[in-house]
Amino acid sequence: MPGSSFGTSFRITTFGESHGNALGIVIDGLPAGLKITPHDIEYELYFRRPGKEYTSQRFEEDKVEILSGLFNGKTTGSPLAVIVRNVDVNLTPYESIKFTPRPGHADLSFILKYGVENWDYRGGGRASGRETVSRVIAGSIAKKLLLLKGTYIFSCIRSLGTKGISDSIQLYEVIKAKCRKVRACKMSYEKEFEDLLYDLIRSGNSIGAVVETRIVNPPIGLGEPVFDKIKADLAKAVMSIPGVVGFEYGLGFEASKKRGSDILDEIVLKGKRVGLRNNFSGGILGGITTGEEIVFRSAFKPTSSIKRPQKTLDIRSMEERTIIIEGRHDPCIAIRGASVVEAMAAVVLLDHSIASHIIPSDRLSGKDSELIERRWEGYKRLCMPMAESQY
Ligand SMILES: Cc1cc2nc3c(=O)[nH]c(=O)nc-3n(C[C@H](O)[C@H](O)[C@H](O)COP(=O)(O)O)c2cc1C
Repeated sequence: MPGSSFGTSFRITTFGESHGNALGIVIDGLPAGLKITPHDIEYELYFRRPGKEYTSQRFEEDKVEILSGLFNGKTTGSPLAVIVRNVDVNLTPYESIKFTPRPGHADLSFILKYGVENWDYRGGGRASGRETVSRVIAGSIAKKLLLLKGTYIFSCIRSLGTKGISDSIQLYEVIKAKCRKVRACKMSYEKEFEDLLYDLIRSGNSIGAVVETRIVNPPIGLGEPVFDKIKADLAKAVMSIPGVVGFEYGLGFEASKKRGSDILDEIVLKGKRVGLRNNFSGGILGGITTGEEIVFRSAFKPTSSIKRPQKTLDIRSMEERTIIIEGRHDPCIAIRGASVVEAMAAVVLLDHSIASHIIPSDRLSGKDSELIERRWEGYKRLCMPMAESQY
């Protein structure tokens, strides 16, 4: 049962390993006529790219090569294949852990399932966070196409360990977070988060976080009763991201502490459309989008690869070993993971939008294409400080 494909009407298949030749994706289901440049994709990849402060010090440029599916700069309706080559590959730290699976990573389960002789121990292979480059490539294209309906997706770090916000976050703060170094949900937390990360890096430790995602102006009516509910598909998409340990939408787990009277989602007229006064349900009722903002949160565990001696077994002799993990690691997965969450959300929304004929499956008109380009330029200006606007 292969597991590298996701989606139905907009279907993605990812391939590649952390320290292999390249990471890539094949996307099937794109309508013809969508303008795509390598720069469009690199713009989104910029936000998940390693090598920046408070992230893994693996320096990858993530230069995009589009192999198929484009003609005259526009999609043709054929599968779009895109790769980025691995450049900064260093196998040395992984030779010593070939037979000693790292606690908390996917090493043990891969060895038990596939056999130690077949296990790609080079930086986690397919279980590496590097796999998510492919998802962000798909996300960049899905996000661009969703602009046809004026739908935008943003994520920020709501909390880092026990620090952060406990009530609602203003949308403009979530948008702004994208150009902050550690994507804090408020400028006032950014310094606090940075100080904490600085201490963690110095002490060779890591930390968990909660990412909040907002889907602004989602199409109404996405989600199919009863198994293909949008909440179920979003949960699967997000929970497939390495390092994610929890998903909630709307009030989520908080709702379990409330009385019915506390969280009545009263129905009101908002301008000319039917809406919800408070949107406690996070934009989804009955598994179907209401048109209100979709609000969901993803919990990321702390990075398991920390610079502390840790006990494991030598899988050949079954003798106890103490290992020290080398290599380059993120002190907090969620900082780069936030972009991956946005990407997976975009893939789900687009998949449902194409299936429901809200976004055309065959071709875009010239007018559609121009509208998307205009909105895409606006989106880039919204998210990136001008100094970095080369992307
Ligand atoms: C963007 C991103 C970066 C990651 N960076 C690291 C890392 O530097 N070190 C590490 O041990 N795990 C990292 N992870 C998490 C591992 O890939 C993940 O813990 C592993 O695949 C096991 O899966 P699980 O945590 O979902 O069980 C990263 C994940 C993502 C999404």
